[in-house]
Amino acid sequence: MIQKIQQILGEINALTAATAEELETLRIKYLSKKGEISALVNDFRNVANEEKREIGQHLNTLKNRAQERFAELKETLENSQSTSSDIDLTRPALPIELGTRHPLSIVKNEIIEIFARIGFTIAEGPEIEDDWHVFGALNFPPEHPARDMQDTFFIEKNPDVLLRTHTSSVQSRVMMAQKPPIRVLCPGRVYRNEAISYRAHCFFHQVEGLYIDTNVSFADLKQALLYFAKEMFGEKTEIRLRPSYFPFTEPSAEMDISCNLCGGKGCPFCKHTGWVEILGCGMVDPNVLENCGIDSSVYSGYAFGMGVERITNLKYQVKDLRMFSENDLRFLQQFEAAY
Ligand code: DAH
Repeated sequence: MIQKIQQILGEINALTAATAEELETLRIKYLSKKGEISALVNDFRNVANEEKREIGQHLNTLKNRAQERFAELKETLENSQSTSSDIDLTRPALPIELGTRHPLSIVKNEIIEIFARIGFTIAEGPEIEDDWHVFGALNFPPEHPARDMQDTFFIEKNPDVLLRTHTSSVQSRVMMAQKPPIRVLCPGRVYRNEAISYRAHCFFHQVEGLYIDTNVSFADLKQALLYFAKEMFGEKTEIRLRPSYFPFTEPSAEMDISCNLCGGKGCPFCKHTGWVEILGCGMVDPNVLENCGIDSSVYSGYAFGMGVERITNLKYQVKDLRMFSENDLRFLQQFEAAY
């Protein structure tokens, strides 16, 4: 009998099971009521009394070892199952989706890059401004009708606090803070009291340019703007300057570029004129220089200002201005490839 016990003990120690079913079959074979170990326990009754003590010990060892072994096998099976089938370590992780740059930022950065190549650096100013920086310093006298040109958001309690209507306010800040030569670009958001529609919004974006030095002429302005137009819209682009009026520049002009959709032949976009307006510009009025503490007998300069939405529309034909501020992913994702 001892021999039989040792043999089963050997078998138990060598047991393996690849699946839960296999393990259950083995458990039935050894540990169930009709299993081999139970059979030995039954036989034990017939063992001679003097042998009972020794054989009993062996039998107990076998029973304990068998239970232990089955518990071990169960555990290894469970562990291996959870790593091999529940968690797939080779599976790629969920991707973190990349955002896209906003079309207005793409175009603003492009404008900045183009002017950076001819020496312009960036200046920024506050969006909540005062009357002096937005109007006063820029040659808008208190009751001047030119103030009506812009529908301004004033703060009721203190009309000296207002939301800037143009980035030209940064011109006055820069001129008061720096000595010429000055060559800056001022990008930023501006606010006007407009009813929101597909072609107007109560806020939009501008890029202002300012160049002050000795002997700056209108020819310098024209050349810088021609360079910009060609870099932005293509080598074949032509420009046209039309006389205009702004309180802070004298002379003033508005600049058109040859329509980049029809190449200047005339189409619905340019209203069959072949030209589209893109910016205002001029020679900085000597009064503005003096208001900002710059000697107008020594220095002269030019300035220009353009709308970023307008340039973006020319490049990408966005038909409705409201799309720029709706945060609709279907719109924004279309600019994925643009930078
Ligand atoms: N500030 C003007 C506007 O908002 C644009 C402008 C015109 C800016 C002429 C300039 C300039 O610097 O010289 O309509």
